[in-house]
Amino acid sequence: MSRTSRTTLRRSRFALIAAGALVAAAAGTATAVAPFGNSTAAAGQTAAAEVDNPYEGAKVYVNPEWSANAAAEPGGSRVSDQPTGVWLDRIAAIEGANGGMSLRDHLDEALAQKGSGELVFQAVIYNLPGRDCSALASNGELGPTEIDRYKTEYIDPIAAIFADEKYAALRIVTTVEIDSLPNLITNAGGRPTATPECDVMKANGNYQKGVGYALDKLGNAPNVYNYIDAGHHGWIGWDDNFGPTADIFKEAATTEGATVDDVHGFITNTANYGATTEDHFSIDDSVNGTSVRQSKWVDWNRYTDEQSYAQAFRDELVSVGFNSDVGMLIDTSRNGWGGADRPTGPGATTSVDTYVDGGRYDRRIHLGNWCNQAGAGLGERPQAAPAAGIDAYVWMKPPGESDGSSEEIPNDEGKGFDRMCDPTYEGNVRNGNNPSGALPDAPVSGKWFSAQFQELMTNAYPAL
Ligand code: GLC
Repeated sequence: MSRTSRTTLRRSRFALIAAGALVAAAAGTATAVAPFGNSTAAAGQTAAAEVDNPYEGAKVYVNPEWSANAAAEPGGSRVSDQPTGVWLDRIAAIEGANGGMSLRDHLDEALAQKGSGELVFQAVIYNLPGRDCSALASNGELGPTEIDRYKTEYIDPIAAIFADEKYAALRIVTTVEIDSLPNLITNAGGRPTATPECDVMKANGNYQKGVGYALDKLGNAPNVYNYIDAGHHGWIGWDDNFGPTADIFKEAATTEGATVDDVHGFITNTANYGATTEDHFSIDDSVNGTSVRQSKWVDWNRYTDEQSYAQAFRDELVSVGFNSDVGMLIDTSRNGWGGADRPTGPGATTSVDTYVDGGRYDRRIHLGNWCNQAGAGLGERPQAAPAAGIDAYVWMKPPGESDGSSEEIPNDEGKGFDRMCDPTYEGNVRNGNNPSGALPDAPVSGKWFSAQFQELMTNAYPAL
């Protein structure tokens, strides 16, 4: 998007805020923000002005395909009306892969769900060349050099559909390219955790080019809200990773025609398992003079949970040049960690490890574990503006869809077999050589995994 058009949008946005302030003053209320939502709602089906937080005052799209899978499970109707992300995980998803709904089918259904109110439609942009370079489970269809196909066969058609006037009244949230840019920081460039595939992507620059192109083209529609994927605290929360990740986001967001004005915010914890808040220990605690940061679990990380990470990373992103009003999303789809084993108080103060391990909600074997984690539960239900700087808790990963197969399963999507999804695997340098913690008998990533869905419901927190 050009600077000029964004300036116009900003101006109209401030005009609306001013109008809201007048209403607020007349009504004797304290904030100018709440009436702002009302003034855009009055716009009805016409193109909506850009808002600061698209989730505020809006319903969120319920994907009928996910909803049907959830509802078909015993007990699934307790959650089947929840909104989840629509993953555009291959070119064929635009027209509807394997007889499924096309993007236009989803957007038409979104208009029906919207009615006369406001509605957020959540799309996951996930098809970069050389996708998932540090793992195998979500390798994609495009090879490392196929940036031109990414642009012309994937982003351009999606951008054209989003820009269709028919959908102008929807608030379209995109989450852009899960795991990609953080991989270039931690899993490339001579680090012990590097993979040859990430080194290739770091060298050819196609992740930055793809993300920049996507932000620019998708951002051309004034009702599209781009959020860049920002990994999670158990990945980017270390000092070595935090600043450099913000810097590479800035680089990507200012390449291929994109500007920081094309970035509405960032999402953390997508398809991951980090707890939103750990209430029984904090980064500033110590036991017998030993800091929580020195516990095996925290291992010198600067953050103990997603929310403190998201808020601090937001500040960092603003400091490197992103707009001061960027908002964060946290994927709470599978980070509930409830059930009978959920700690109800701090751990014993015998050592910093007993203290942290006895108190933590996140019961993974290691923070680096990411595939179909045993013991996980559904997290906070999707909601708008739950905390300062957080635009929403969202279920971007559809709960019940696998992270990867626990053994090799042939498929035509480019998906590989990653041993981090094999419960018998003893790990690698990226998870401190710990067992994978994965559930057995999992299907290929993205496929319905009934046993996992059942466990997520059993261990939901808040409980269902
Ligand atoms: C994984 C899969 C992708 C799927 C998504 C949501 O990343 O690779 O195909 O759409 O999860 O379940």
